[in-house]
Amino acid sequence: MMEKTLIYNIGSLLTLRSMKRGPRTGKYLSDLGIIKDGAVVVSGEKIIRADKESVVLRGLRRESIAKEINARGMMVSPGFVDPHTHPVFYGTREEEFGMRLSGMKYLEIAKAGGGIRNSARRFRDASKTDIKKQTRGVLKRLLKHGITTIEAKSGYGLSFESEIRSLVILKELDGKYNIDIIPTFLGAHDFPDEYQNNREEYIRIITDEMIPFIAKHKLAEYCDIFCEKGVFNIDQSRRILHIAKRYGLKIRMHADEIHSIGGAELASELKAKTADHLVAVSSKGIKMMAKAGVMPILLPGTSFSLNTGKYAPARKMIEEGLAICLSTDCNPGSSYTESASLIITLACLHLKLTPEEAFVAYTINPAYSLDRGHLYGSIEKGKIADLLIWETANYKEIPYHYGVNLIKSVIKRGRRVI
Ligand code: NIG
Ligand code: FE
Repeated sequence: MMEKTLIYNIGSLLTLRSMKRGPRTGKYLSDLGIIKDGAVVVSGEKIIRADKESVVLRGLRRESIAKEINARGMMVSPGFVDPHTHPVFYGTREEEFGMRLSGMKYLEIAKAGGGIRNSARRFRDASKTDIKKQTRGVLKRLLKHGITTIEAKSGYGLSFESEIRSLVILKELDGKYNIDIIPTFLGAHDFPDEYQNNREEYIRIITDEMIPFIAKHKLAEYCDIFCEKGVFNIDQSRRILHIAKRYGLKIRMHADEIHSIGGAELASELKAKTADHLVAVSSKGIKMMAKAGVMPILLPGTSFSLNTGKYAPARKMIEEGLAICLSTDCNPGSSYTESASLIITLACLHLKLTPEEAFVAYTINPAYSLDRGHLYGSIEKGKIADLLIWETANYKEIPYHYGVNLIKSVIKRGRRVI
């Protein structure tokens, strides 16, 4: 018999269930499926009941329950699913934050040898043990902020050996610190120092050496690229991503973050799973994404931390029927945060999402963006029991009460871990 846990006295239970199956768009982006005075029963790692407490208790033999958790009238929501993170890096880049404070731009710093290449140098000089230790710190902070599943990218190694090391670290850490990790290969994050003047050779290493090895050893599920002016252009991106697809990797893309260069259009052409950032996306790009079913991952923390004043046109995307998602973009350069709640605040203020839309975009939609809508993102029978117990009964407090962590407890795969 599997051990059962009852979570009861839930003032508001955000189940995120909906009539609509699959990624939520339009009015379904506001469907939180709230149950007042709810209860949840968990058996092993899975949810077996989620309903009104009176209904749940009626059908329950109390002696079959090994553990009870009193939510004290507060809110319970699904764990956040963060669909765009870069948690494997070594060292930090606060000096670049300082340079930006004195007026330098993100791409200027990168061009001068800072940015991603700065992180790559540190990564290569560090031992695997030290990198792993630092990544573990990121995971622990993500979990404290209620993030129970992440998509995680490599991309600070920029050489065969160090990109593989990055993905191996992710594999080793998957599930170890109560966060499920879905790995993405991002060898095409930038051109490393040694190939600045021979970019084609680095592309060859990615397509002929890294991708085949990663596919063979199943080290990543997705392939991503930083498609941007001065980094990987459209043509190079198309070539790399075509090869990735041929090897069975699914596609996510850093697209149209700073310059409108047709990233969203390429993502649509390639039937990518997601196109991320999209601050400078064109109207045509949005329309093409809608048609191709590409999900936008919006990263308002990046606009905020880079202090560009420019945010992705989220309302326009919603109007066009896109299934928006939110994420931290947690990385040491452009968005060093593990706080999902802060991202929700920024999404409401700058992307003009409603609190309801922000919750959908941080739970069920990102689960679908990772092809795991059947496992995560809502509190329904059969799903993995990843639950957050909050210090408030009202989800509307989350964007409003900003810069603090209102999470009281985290339940991961049926076990209380915080
Ligand atoms: O998503 N834009 C490219 N990649 C990261 C930033 C990486 C870095 O600056 O270290 C991003 O913002
Ligand atoms: Fe990113």
